[in-house]
Amino acid sequence: MRIPSKYPGKLHFKGPKKGLPSGNPLGKNPSDIWEIMEQDWENGMWNIPNVKSNHPEKTNHPCQFPIELVERCVLALTEEYSWVLDPFAGVGSTVLGAIKNNRNAMGIEKEEDYCTLAKQRIKDYNDGNLKFRPINKPIHQPTGKDKVSQIPQQWLQLQQSDSKEKSNSLNQNHP
Ligand SMILES: C[S@@+](CC[C@H](N)C(=O)[O-])C[C@H]1O[C@@H](n2cnc3c(N)ncnc32)[C@H](O)[C@@H]1O
Repeated sequence: MRIPSKYPGKLHFKGPKKGLPSGNPLGKNPSDIWEIMEQDWENGMWNIPNVKSNHPEKTNHPCQFPIELVERCVLALTEEYSWVLDPFAGVGSTVLGAIKNNRNAMGIEKEEDYCTLAKQRIKDYNDGNLKFRPINKPIHQPTGKDKVSQIPQQWLQLQQSDSKEKSNSLNQNHP
């Protein structure tokens, strides 16, 4: 497994390879993937974001798996060039998790639209155009500074008017 290079255009600036690309065209070796996986096994929990609207892998399938979930099983349970079969393939997440890790894969799906999407995703992957969440990407921890992790002004106003109402009703009950 390789992680796409952040700066694929970086060149050697001296020595016999001067001017040639300095990275591996396949991407770099992930340094911490096994550490992350080992830690998750020890914690007894896989912390993987599900595929919601803002997930890079989201299609119109209502119960799509994250590719990362399949990859972990594929890496733990199979070897290179093993065959992986998903009889309920949906939009092909299992097939993608397998081929991404040099396994052979086969999927069966009864809905034609999902088959079409799965084939397109496999093509996009092979062409290097598929967006997916990398297996070793840490879970985003809100800093508290993000707009979405701050309490909206409207809520604060609601809380204030709610507590005013409560204190008014207490005053009425106990004049
Ligand atoms: C939970 S979804 C799988 C989603 C898939 N893991 C993905 O990430 O895209 C189950 C899929 O099984 C398909 N399915 C249900 N019954 C089936 C059958 N008898 N033969 C083939 N596919 C079937 C459904 O259409 C659905 O897409």
